[in-house]
Amino acid sequence: MNREKILSHLRDHPWGQQIQVYEQIDSTNTLVKELGRQGAAQGTVVIADRQTAGRGRLGRSFLSPGGVGVYLSVLLRPHVKPGEIMHLTCAVGEAMCDAVENAAGIRPGIKWANDLVIGKQKLGGILTELSLDPKTQLVDFVVIGIGINCGQEKSDFDESIRGMATSLHLATGRQVDRNRVAAEMIRQLEILNSNLLTEKEAVMSRYAKDCVTIGQDIQVVRGEERRSGKAVGLDSEGGLMVEYPDGTRVSVSSGEVSIRGMYGYT
Ligand code: BTN
Repeated sequence: MNREKILSHLRDHPWGQQIQVYEQIDSTNTLVKELGRQGAAQGTVVIADRQTAGRGRLGRSFLSPGGVGVYLSVLLRPHVKPGEIMHLTCAVGEAMCDAVENAAGIRPGIKWANDLVIGKQKLGGILTELSLDPKTQLVDFVVIGIGINCGQEKSDFDESIRGMATSLHLATGRQVDRNRVAAEMIRQLEILNSNLLTEKEAVMSRYAKDCVTIGQDIQVVRGEERRSGKAVGLDSEGGLMVEYPDGTRVSVSSGEVSIRGMYGYT
């Protein structure tokens, strides 16, 4: 990854001066969180060529080998109550679909809540972390971290995820310029930040179109417990509406949902 090349795709961008590029780092989210605590400005972006301790959702690790992926985190400071940005992760998913489509000519789907997928395989993931001001209970900052597989061949993926992972290269048959992908991600994140509170309804209706989970047989996973149902839609905050066999409908807002036929759930 190369800062100058990224900037060449982002002429006069408002965040241009705040983009840091590292060859190797433990986790871009961890660094941006630390910068957030130290008072860094909104729009601070950290990109790494490789992460040694990339983090995923639910305390998992996110394998982040060098030379093939884009690992990017950004700091935002929406000074609102956390309840006003419940849709943030969905909005990031939409922004990333736009970014990938612009940079690589292929539009991913979104597996609720925030996996980017192509067909039945995972292209990337999103980890949003929020810090509250303890006095005001308003958001102090959010860190949005995104990892996108770009250049991997099948054999580059760890055996444990090979069957369920894909890359832009595998999906398009072309080499994809990671600097261009990173630039498009930044461009779309800045647009998202400007529209976050005003475009909620429009973003959620676009998200519903890209979300591959709706209409599928799914399992809601909570610890050891798995409950089968059908994903029937989204609520206004981006929660997944699940209908269980007894006819009850529940909105799920956290945890994990497996889709039958994806990622090894048969
Ligand atoms: C997931 O799929 O569970 C979310 C993965 C998020 C990975 C990205 S890579 C950039 C940023 N830094 C991290 O440590 N994690 C996120």
